[in-house]
Amino acid sequence: MYRTHTCGELRLEHKGTNVTLAGWVQTVRKFGAITFVDLRDRYGITQLLFGEELNKVLEDNPLGREFVIQATGTVSERSNKNPNIPTGDIEILISSFQVLNKSAVPPFTIQDDTDGGDDLRMKYRFLDLRRNAVKRNLELRYAVNRAARNYLHQQQFMDIETPFLIKSTPEGARDFVVPSRMNPGQFYALPQSPQTFKQLLMVSGYDRYYQIVKCFRDEDLRADRQPEFTQIDCEMAFVEQEDILNMFEGLIKSIFKDVKGIDYTEAVQRMTWEDAMWQYGNDKPDIRFGMQLLNLKKPATVYSDKTDSAALINGADFKVFDEAETVLAIAIPGCSEYSRKQTDELTEWVKRPQIGMKGLVFIKCNTDGTYKSSVDKFYSEEKLKAIADAAGAKAGDLVLILAGAEERTRKAISELRLEMASRLGMRKDDEFKLLWVLDFPLFEYDEEGNRWVARHHPFTSPKPTQIETMINNNPVIENAADYLNHPYASIKANAYDMVLNGNEIGGGSIRIFQRELQEKMFAALGMDKEEQLHKFGFLLGAFEYGAPPHGGIAFGFDRLCSILGGSESIRDFIAFPKNNAGRDVMLDAPATIDQKQFTELQIKLDLK
Ligand code: AMO
Repeated sequence: MYRTHTCGELRLEHKGTNVTLAGWVQTVRKFGAITFVDLRDRYGITQLLFGEELNKVLEDNPLGREFVIQATGTVSERSNKNPNIPTGDIEILISSFQVLNKSAVPPFTIQDDTDGGDDLRMKYRFLDLRRNAVKRNLELRYAVNRAARNYLHQQQFMDIETPFLIKSTPEGARDFVVPSRMNPGQFYALPQSPQTFKQLLMVSGYDRYYQIVKCFRDEDLRADRQPEFTQIDCEMAFVEQEDILNMFEGLIKSIFKDVKGIDYTEAVQRMTWEDAMWQYGNDKPDIRFGMQLLNLKKPATVYSDKTDSAALINGADFKVFDEAETVLAIAIPGCSEYSRKQTDELTEWVKRPQIGMKGLVFIKCNTDGTYKSSVDKFYSEEKLKAIADAAGAKAGDLVLILAGAEERTRKAISELRLEMASRLGMRKDDEFKLLWVLDFPLFEYDEEGNRWVARHHPFTSPKPTQIETMINNNPVIENAADYLNHPYASIKANAYDMVLNGNEIGGGSIRIFQRELQEKMFAALGMDKEEQLHKFGFLLGAFEYGAPPHGGIAFGFDRLCSILGGSESIRDFIAFPKNNAGRDVMLDAPATIDQKQFTELQIKLDLK
């Protein structure tokens, strides 16, 4: 037997017990004739005390960091207790020990605050994984996994595996492909998600399916994206949108409860996509704080707030606003006393290439009731007050205004909103706010191809009242500059995203389940009959054999874990992640393959 206890287990109540521990040497501290060793394993750290005799052995055969040792001794009370660790009241008086394996000096310290940089830690990920911080993340990931499985099992969902070697599933990214030796010249695609399989399972009658499953997408990477990532993928038959929203609110709340001990009893807030875009500037608003946008340009009818604010800026002969496609304002609480230096810094911030604005207009709503602005020349104090009031500003607030092209300005002010909230400490890691964003557009305009693409995926159903609009209008876009006026631009989908603290943690839709409508959808996306059959003949065929109405959702498992763990990066929650270039620096993958493999696959490289 290698050990009687773990390194996190022993307490004062074990005093006098003879124990054997095994683990990694964290630190070695020599004090005259005795030596203290901190021994570490997955469960904790225990202090070992090597007395005079053994100390002599250690002098000849010193222990180094990360050596694997086994040590036997008696649990005793420490005179110098350490209240910071659970085993801090005891130490083991070692009577015998052996080195099970030596270790080279690790390239960085295995501690919470390590001296290792990102790249080094990724190269030696197996050592990084020994660190507490990373271990805690993986423990949290496992807890989320268990909580999800428990809930879904209770709700009679069945975990069914689906294949990885498949034909392309369109989810908007590029496919990773795998050549087939047995079918020369042909390739499998790795699934971007199990989308079509889960729909087929509905046709097969497995009316509640789930899978915690790897998905593969060849897309540009960011902190919250990996080329292979994990989804909690779910599908249900005989459901409407409302059923799905309720079921999966339940899932996330249950995970909150089990993993974080949070009772999220309030109903999850809901918002249309249109409102999210106009009131927050993006489709995944962080609603832990207010700071809604005021649209100073758009005629009043576009979103649910019907007040006409355009009148507030018109007629002042201020060219920047008059000539801009969009003017958006936001009230920042408590910042009216910003100095010139501070407003200049904010102006520079919005001018950075990532944000790309030409400038920033501000109105200071002073606590004495006066208004001061960078556009005093154009707007009377009365007008400034009217704008500030409409933006929801109170005395002491600072109103920031951006003007420019619609998409860019909206994106910029939404970034500015998040930045200001972060600076003001309004985005707290331990506060969680869920939101459903509903009624996404069915189509998205693809500028490059001057055509419509599915905003979610081609299996998503249009709002029933808009099916006719889809069927009766030609998808061709005659005038690219005017695509927004094409009837397709206004069709909404039965699609929904779940947003947590400003992150899209899940997305799904009610599906099309009739062959005819699915064919019309493919046609709307510019696919002729032949292409439809070639790509999706299996699904269209299945829809002829009693496909039930169905819908589903998939959650980004890594993302959910990172948010629950209070981190920006999903990499911290993946045991062996890839870097931003999609490389596994530990394996040094991707890599070239042997000539023999190329020959077997009948593939010749033609690198440019
Ligand atoms: P979607 O493409 O919205 O939907 O993906 C669902 C969720 O997966 C997460 N996600 C990612 N996480 C890490 N790295 C990535 N590269 C990445 N891409 C997506 C996001 C996202 O919300 N089949 C549909 C679901 C359905 O319709 O049921 C789908 O995959 O959190």
